[in-house]
Amino acid sequence: MRAILFGFTLMVAATTAPVVAAQRVLLSVDMSKAGTKIDRNIFGQFAEHLGHGVYEGIWVGPDSSIPNTRGIRNDVVAALKAIMVPNVRWPGGCFADEYHWRNGIGPADHRVVTLNPNWGGVIEPNTFGTHEFFDFLDQIGAEAYVSVNVGSGTPREAAEWLEYMTAAQPTTLAKERAANGHPAAYKVGYLGIGNESWDCGGNMTPDYYLSQLKIYSRFVRNYNPEQQEKQEMLKIAVGPGGGEPRWTEWTETIMKAYQHHQWSWDINGLSMHNYTVGNWSRKFASEGFDEAEYSQFLKLTLDMEDLIAKHSAIMDKYDPQKKVALVVDEWGAWYAPLPGSNPGFLVQQNSLRDAILAALNLNIFVRHADRVRMANIAQMINVLQAMIMTDKEKMVVTPTYYVFRMYVPFQDATLVPVAFNADTYTYENITLPRVDAIAAKDKAGKLWLELTNVDPNEPVEIEVNVAGITAKSAAGETLTAPKVDSVNTFDAPNAVAPKPISAKVQGGKLALKLEPKSVTVVAVEQ
Ligand code: AHR
Repeated sequence: MRAILFGFTLMVAATTAPVVAAQRVLLSVDMSKAGTKIDRNIFGQFAEHLGHGVYEGIWVGPDSSIPNTRGIRNDVVAALKAIMVPNVRWPGGCFADEYHWRNGIGPADHRVVTLNPNWGGVIEPNTFGTHEFFDFLDQIGAEAYVSVNVGSGTPREAAEWLEYMTAAQPTTLAKERAANGHPAAYKVGYLGIGNESWDCGGNMTPDYYLSQLKIYSRFVRNYNPEQQEKQEMLKIAVGPGGGEPRWTEWTETIMKAYQHHQWSWDINGLSMHNYTVGNWSRKFASEGFDEAEYSQFLKLTLDMEDLIAKHSAIMDKYDPQKKVALVVDEWGAWYAPLPGSNPGFLVQQNSLRDAILAALNLNIFVRHADRVRMANIAQMINVLQAMIMTDKEKMVVTPTYYVFRMYVPFQDATLVPVAFNADTYTYENITLPRVDAIAAKDKAGKLWLELTNVDPNEPVEIEVNVAGITAKSAAGETLTAPKVDSVNTFDAPNAVAPKPISAKVQGGKLALKLEPKSVTVVAVEQ
């Protein structure tokens, strides 16, 4: 692709790139073509009762020596506030289809103690329940995405949970909520009707799930008066998993029914789960890997593009107005458990490779912003591709966390189309696009660029042609580290951390030099 150059030059100050001939990539951005909104919900999180995701990661209890507010750790809350988490999916995952909400309300010392058979068979103390979840959401400023139990629960149980949470009138359940400390109705922004109902959520066929969906959609109501007026609680149906042909049938079944749905049931979203794994029985390592595994794993993650395109095309057939969102509510890297950890706790390291993987997936969601309006990375703390890791009183943020922090300006911004010759990076038999990029205009009218250099060895010079504004300066952050498998640890928490970049316009051209294996976000000032 040939870019037409006009504009200005940005000299990026904070570069430590090795002396290697940089590849050149031409990129053009047209501010006048800003279009689709990038829904901030694509930066959603997922907190399942799994391993140390909730217990220890969020909840330490009010009597803990770890600084906390009503049992919720202060360090974790502060870190999450900085990434402006839009929504949190809870309580699962597979856990959701075995969760009985009544176990998690009332005085802490009277809570029912159960087991968590999905995840290590450990004790589930139920000390983190509905009220603690909403307190956590209040503290971090996020909305609730509650998954109700379709697999082993009943429509009545789920309907009563919604009444308990959302009813403002003095029903018996609303009074019970008030007696438990919260007179005001809670707001449930998003309702998940089951989880992976084709597998851990009940091994249902598409048709069987569809009949359940209609019943739950009809009877699991939202009573919150503020939301009712605006019809704000969005209902999300179970959708497809990975890439197998049976998922086509699932999406077809739900969307075909949606096309002819009657007033008595409705959905606003179809969930999709897609992890980057490779081989489920011989998973990749999350630390101590080489360039071969780096390139193989990133190649695998790009399957997200085809999956979204495939399921969006099916949805387009039945919902051409794109009323139903594709909700990628479980995504991320799934590696072999760390040696010595409980395999049921899904503990893995988080490296620079994961930061690049996160940027590539977020960019795919952004390019499909018209259909993908929500996503939830799995999972928020201590589990799979986490933002945060904790060990008793210690806490460290991961390279993936920094990507979410750097992308904050893209929340609810308007997508600006970019055209670029991505070039290629090849390692042995794996070839990947060398560069990825997105652009967006924020509410103040400022242009933001995200640029990823996948190549672990060579820097890239980007020449940007910006139409529609006259730029004066730019500033932002770039995230890289010495090695593709560099990680942050409790002892070395800043091994992978963003560095500031400031840039000035020079000579009428925009030129950015990207370090090898880096994620960069800059704002262009007019
Ligand atoms: O995120 C871990 C598990 O992966 C979830 O519980 C389940 O929905 C998926 O299979």
